[in-house]
Amino acid sequence: MPTVDRGMLIRCVEAATLAPSLHNSQPWRFRIDGETVEVYADPARRLEVLDPHGRELTISVGAALFTLRAAIRDAGWIPAVEAYPDPDEPDLVARVRPEQPAEPSPEAHELATAISRRHTNRRPFSSAVVPADVVDKLRDAAVHEGARLTVADRASRTVIVSLGRAAADRLRGRGGYFAELNRWTRPLPGRLDGIPAHAMGPWDALERIPMRDFGVVMSQPSRHGEEFEPYPTIAVLTTVGDAPAQWLQAGQALQRILLVATRLNLATTPISQPVEIPSIRDVLSDPRTDRWAQMVIRLGYGAPAAATPRRPVAEVLIAQSS
Ligand SMILES: Cc1cc2nc3c(=O)[nH]c(=O)nc-3n(C[C@H](O)[C@H](O)[C@H](O)COP(=O)(O)O)c2cc1C
Repeated sequence: MPTVDRGMLIRCVEAATLAPSLHNSQPWRFRIDGETVEVYADPARRLEVLDPHGRELTISVGAALFTLRAAIRDAGWIPAVEAYPDPDEPDLVARVRPEQPAEPSPEAHELATAISRRHTNRRPFSSAVVPADVVDKLRDAAVHEGARLTVADRASRTVIVSLGRAAADRLRGRGGYFAELNRWTRPLPGRLDGIPAHAMGPWDALERIPMRDFGVVMSQPSRHGEEFEPYPTIAVLTTVGDAPAQWLQAGQALQRILLVATRLNLATTPISQPVEIPSIRDVLSDPRTDRWAQMVIRLGYGAPAAATPRRPVAEVLIAQSS
């Protein structure tokens, strides 16, 4: 029987820090208490302009929570998760405990090996179509986490990318937008967060796909235009309800989808501008049925993307109080 020791839990926390987060803000902290890992949101790392309510912060922490679960599963344990266990402590997002020993299935193992291979890919993808059986697996990943992934058909894809462009324009007019982008865009000497120049990717020369304005304020000569795939595969991740519990669910679903996609050799780009402008988010949602768009994801095939930096595990671990 595998043992739960602090070293194993630290390795799982280290894996969790490889999760995606808005502008690589890494808004999480962890505390190991005996055999339990507590996952905390770090509100000091919230992006005030883009994310006034902390929705994307919670999605990012949810992605780290899913990654922690996947790493614990791969270490030979089925994790028990208690979300928001203490109403008096809203930043304590979850308690996770390796509960029952069980060999990981080959799928669980493959999912865990995708953790370090998954990177946001902002380069043009090939024009190859994402096959229906692959789309089904991504949909299943969302359902597994209590969310829904809808891959846009031809007509709605055109609408979603144009909504994305409209959202990007609106954000450019929001006070503090560029200053905040600048704070999270490299070069950031000595920092192990934010977006490095190598990860920004080119502009879409035809200005169709709403790539984020990384690098605008840095006047990066390296950020040139390139032609992107003419018919991007675009999917929308939704949840029923729009409170922190569902944001957390959306983050876990997002990371399960991204890891399954990575396992299937797909390239992925989370695109969140359309859900950062409330009136545009409403169009992608169905308020009548309380179904809310949480994220747009671009999927396809492309050359592998490189890793971005992470803060060391010692920096995200809260020291034991006793
Ligand atoms: C909530 C959330 C929103 C994101 N929004 C965008 C986005 O609009 N555009 C983009 O290019 N990447 C977006 N990303 C990807 C992050 O920038 C990326 O995860 C982070 O820089 C770390 O890089 P990595 O994913 O390669 O590890 C988002 C990620 C999350 C979790």
